[in-house]
Amino acid sequence: MPVTVKNEHIHELLTKALNSTYRPHDRLPAERDLAAQFGVSRMTVRRALERLEGERRIYRVKGLGTFVSQRTITKTIALTSFSEDIRRRGMRPSATVLCAELKKPDDITREALLLTPTESVVYLHRLRHGDRTPMCLERVYLPARMVPGLLAYDLTSSLYQILRQHYDIRPTRARQTITSVLLNVEESDHLRVAPYSPALLVDRTTYDQRDRPIERAASLYRGDLYRYEIDISPPIDGDDAP
Ligand code: GLP
Repeated sequence: MPVTVKNEHIHELLTKALNSTYRPHDRLPAERDLAAQFGVSRMTVRRALERLEGERRIYRVKGLGTFVSQRTITKTIALTSFSEDIRRRGMRPSATVLCAELKKPDDITREALLLTPTESVVYLHRLRHGDRTPMCLERVYLPARMVPGLLAYDLTSSLYQILRQHYDIRPTRARQTITSVLLNVEESDHLRVAPYSPALLVDRTTYDQRDRPIERAASLYRGDLYRYEIDISPPIDGDDAP
């Protein structure tokens, strides 16, 4: 028995179904079946599908049909952790620890973290998941003197949460560069994509509430799952305004 819905609600209902009933890359029923299911015209369904395609929630393959997109994470200039981004997307964050150790930093890290020549860092190499999908490969360096005992905590959970809870270190601002790169064979293997797939390399130096550098992180985000959205405005002095 078809349920009659108002035209404007069909987009909402389909969005709900995409969030709950379907999994990434599932095929959606044909337009005429959706029209019958919701008691609306095929044109109404088509318009809703076009809107969902514009929102990158679905994609079409000629001759095969309409499929559910893998949801991407939109990063903004807000300082968020991996876990926060993933939860906001309705998924469960987790991490596989590939390496966790004390070591001597390289020159770039030593400089970024304002370390003396003899100081060590805690190094974490983690593969980050959203539900079961590997999404990001992360190398993080923290000044060892600021996080004594860090290696004893459960590092499959949120690092920023551990810093806040056990060290009263609150990530407050960060400077980061974003570079497009190709994944090498080992990285692609971890992220379960084809070798030399594109990725975003985000190099972040994070400062705490006392403006001390507390982390240098090099995060490789899968290019098919992440995009950046940045608000821009004209320069303040107006000389270069378009
Ligand atoms: C992002 C940042 C990293 C940071 C991580 C913390 O991925 N690029 O610099 O270390 O978030 O995330 P979580 O608290 O989930 O471990």
